[in-house]
Amino acid sequence: MSKIKTPIVILNFKTYLESCGDSALNLAKALESVQEETDIKMVACPQACDIYRIKNETFIDVLSQHIDAVSPGSHTGSTLFEGVLAAGIDGSLINHSEKRLTLADIQAVNQQLLDNDLISCICTNNVETSVAAASFNPDIVAIEPPELIGSGISVSQAEPEIVEGTVDKVKAINKNVKVLCGAGISTGDDMAQALELGAEGVLLASGIVKADNPKDALLDLVSKI
Ligand code: G3P
Repeated sequence: MSKIKTPIVILNFKTYLESCGDSALNLAKALESVQEETDIKMVACPQACDIYRIKNETFIDVLSQHIDAVSPGSHTGSTLFEGVLAAGIDGSLINHSEKRLTLADIQAVNQQLLDNDLISCICTNNVETSVAAASFNPDIVAIEPPELIGSGISVSQAEPEIVEGTVDKVKAINKNVKVLCGAGISTGDDMAQALELGAEGVLLASGIVKADNPKDALLDLVSKI
């Protein structure tokens, strides 16, 4: 049985000022409140420094934005699996376009997460890398064409074929792997179209983080499901 409830919204806080510190907590509370009101799964991906506080002050699931494939020891500046685990993570993104890893490191971090019954979400940039990611049997593959990230142009509207192609190829490898899409997604139409293309949720950032009212933006995002 899958540990992921779908449809799912994963909000990447990235390193925006609007999603750090107190604002990170407020954003997590907006996710929590929309999840309660709509019963649609909402997940926060804050910076590592905000994970512990959000886990302690909300009931929302939290993913780390990144984990380095390093062992405990001398790795200044790295994000250690055991460190974010102790902070309370429910899982992690792996290989985001803004924080790429080698194939060997993707496999190692994915396995660490799965061995600890945590959510593994491998980000990919095209159909071919999605196929490679699916072969590691993560919980989620999230396809995000890098050129559309932060553009405000939705992948589900601008490049539907990359979403459909990823769904087809990933499911052919392992039908239990959930496929999400991301890049430029912000509205209810964007999300509805992503689901029509076969995605089981979205991974998004700027459309919500930088909205005047993130809670209203989240409610709009899921309004057409
Ligand atoms: O991880 C989500 C992301 O890369 C998409 O960013 O700002 O286009 O929603 P954005």
